[in-house]
Amino acid sequence: MDENGGERWRECVCAVKRMQEQICLEAGFDVEHCKRIADYEEWNETAKIAKEKAVEFVMNFHEIRKKRKNWFVFFGQSGSGKTMLCNAIIRALIHFDKPVQARAVKYFEMMYRLKSHSNDEDYARIIRGYTDIEVLFIDDFLKDKSVSGTLTEADIKHLFTVIDTRYNKGKPTLITTECTPIRLSELDEAIFYRIHETAFAEIVSKGSENNYRKRL
Ligand SMILES: Nc1ncnc2c1ncn2[C@@H]1O[C@H](COP(=O)(O)OP(=O)(O)OP(=O)(O)O)[C@@H](O)[C@H]1O
Ligand SMILES: [Mg+2]
Repeated sequence: MDENGGERWRECVCAVKRMQEQICLEAGFDVEHCKRIADYEEWNETAKIAKEKAVEFVMNFHEIRKKRKNWFVFFGQSGSGKTMLCNAIIRALIHFDKPVQARAVKYFEMMYRLKSHSNDEDYARIIRGYTDIEVLFIDDFLKDKSVSGTLTEADIKHLFTVIDTRYNKGKPTLITTECTPIRLSELDEAIFYRIHETAFAEIVSKGSENNYRKRL
């Protein structure tokens, strides 16, 4: 009850916790045990920029999500911390007081599911799982094409639908890829420029000296 006698509703802590648990279950990875943005060490210049951008993205997410530029894209070689940082962003969004519906998916797994259901009645439901979720993180985007190869018509059909629908709906999307921006634009200009146009952050990590695993 407020001072004017009107009723006000506040979501109880347990309901929020339950909602977070449900989103965690559907998120596609072990959210509770993944590392946090705070654990991401600023061990080189790129990692410093990447962490700054990730913090800014999460802290201002409610404003950023309404803007055109609301995607978070990390181009980088293996070991540059792409998956760790983006999982940590998803973890943070799910743990907001009003949890954000978010899902992480491996590129191969997404493509495999889409291709194997492309001619059946489940296709529309499956693709909506990628196009309609509030925040989608696609890990290892175009992994098998990062050095050589071309996209098949089937690849383009599924990928373009996911990217273009999210682009048109203005839905925040996180992408990590071992492709360089040039390589991605060579593979498919239409996909690349949609990603480029909507990027709030475009982190580019180059060179094996940026491989955290080699440092250990
Ligand atoms: N800046 C960092 N601070 C702390 N740990 C890091 C950092 N960067 C990477 N790591 C750790 O290094 C390992 C590799 O990171 P991660 O898997 O995120 O890299 P990646 O870029 O996704 O590599 P790949 O392309 O092989 O999937 C993980 O154990 C991760 O926790
Ligand atoms: Mg990775």
